[in-house]
Amino acid sequence: MSSETGKNIKISVFGQSHSEAIGVVADGIPAGERFDMEKIRAFMGRRAPSGKAYTTMRKETDAPRILSGLLKDESAEGDIYVSCGAPVCAVIENKDTRSKDYENLRFVPRPSHADYPACIKYKGFNDIRGGGHFSGRLTAPICFAGALCKEMLERRGIRIGAHIYSVGGIKDEPYDAVNISTEKLLSAGKKEFPVNSDSSGERMLELIAEAKGRGDSVGGIVECAVTGLAPGLGDPMFDGVENIISRLLFGIPAVKGVEFGDGFLLSDSFGSRMNDAYEISDGKVRTKTNHNGGILGGITTGMPIIVRAAFKPTPSVAISQDSVNLADMKDEKLVIHGRHDPCIVPRAVPCVEAAVAIAVCDIMAPVL
Ligand SMILES: Cc1cc2nc3c(=O)[nH]c(=O)nc-3n(C[C@H](O)[C@H](O)[C@H](O)COP(=O)(O)O)c2cc1C
Repeated sequence: MSSETGKNIKISVFGQSHSEAIGVVADGIPAGERFDMEKIRAFMGRRAPSGKAYTTMRKETDAPRILSGLLKDESAEGDIYVSCGAPVCAVIENKDTRSKDYENLRFVPRPSHADYPACIKYKGFNDIRGGGHFSGRLTAPICFAGALCKEMLERRGIRIGAHIYSVGGIKDEPYDAVNISTEKLLSAGKKEFPVNSDSSGERMLELIAEAKGRGDSVGGIVECAVTGLAPGLGDPMFDGVENIISRLLFGIPAVKGVEFGDGFLLSDSFGSRMNDAYEISDGKVRTKTNHNGGILGGITTGMPIIVRAAFKPTPSVAISQDSVNLADMKDEKLVIHGRHDPCIVPRAVPCVEAAVAIAVCDIMAPVL
C-alpha cells in the first residue's frame, strides 16, 4: 500500500482508524528548525472532531507523541522542539473506537466509500473498522507533518490559509486572488467554523443541520491560498507546482476535484478576458489579475497560489441505501450505523492547508 509521497520532504502515513495508533514519518526536515508544539497542537485541534453538530461524535484529542527527529529545547521558554535532521516520527493514539459499528460492512460495502474496491484489492483482509486506512482520521498525521511545514514556511515569509468556499452550493466570500493580506488569509482559520463571511457560515450550518436531520450528508469546497512565494519555483510538465499540490490534495479522502485559479471557469471564456496582463509595481513584475492561480507552466509567477479542493458528501449516511452482499452475491439494503461527519468540509480546511504546506515545502526544500 503506497501511503508515501514527496521528493525532498518525504512523508509516509501509517495506521488505520481503529488500530492502536496512526502516525507519520517525515524525512528531509532540515536540521535546526524550531517548532512550537503549542502551535502544532492548536493546528491539529482545528481538524480534531469538536463534538459540534457538524462533526462526528467520536472523541479524539489527537495529541501527537514524538518518537524521533525532534529534540525538546529544555533551555527555551514554552514547548519548543528542534529538528536534528533524522526522520521525524509522530504517533497519535486511537482511543474512542467502536468497531462493532462496522461489522456488517465486511460483506455489504458502503456506497461511495472504499469498502468494495479495498476488499477486492486486499482479498478481504483490509481492516474495515472505521474505514481502516481509508478513514478521514488518517488526515491527523498529515496535519502534523503539515504543521511542521507551515512553521518552516512562515519563518520564510510564506503564509498559507484556507476557508470553506462553499457547502452544498452556498458560497463564502472568496479570497481576492491578487491582493490577500495576511490578516484576511488567516482569519477564517481562527474561527470555530472557518468562513470569511459569518452570515454565509450561518446558512451553511443550517444546511448541514438540515441534511443531518434527514440522515443525509452534504459536500462542499475548500479554497486555499499561499502568499509570499517568489517567482520561478517549480518545474515544467510532470513535476509542476500544480502536479505536486494536486498529488497531496488527492491524498485527502473525499477530494474529488482540484482547480487552480479560475480552473474550470477558464474553459468557458476568452483569452482576451482571462489572460493575466503584466504590470510593474514597486519595481516588481506582477499580474493585474490572477486567473491562473499564481502558476504558469508549472512554475510560480510570484502571485498568490489559489487552489480549491472539492469534497464529496460524506459517503456514510444514515438513510437506507442499495448495496450488495458479497458473500451470497445478492442485492441488499444497507443501513449504516456509527458516528460520521454530516459534512467533511469544516474539518477538511486544516487538512487542505497541511497538504499544500507539505507540497510547497517539498518544492522549496532545495532553497530552504
Ligand atoms: C476529515 C475527514 C473526515 C471524514 N469523515 C468521514 C465519515 O465520518 N464517514 C465517511 O463515510 N467518510 C468520511 N470521510 C471520507 C472517506 O474517508 C472517503 O470518502 C473514503 O475513504 C473514500 O475515498 P474517496 O472519497 O477519496 O474516494 C472523511 C474524510 C475526511 C477528510
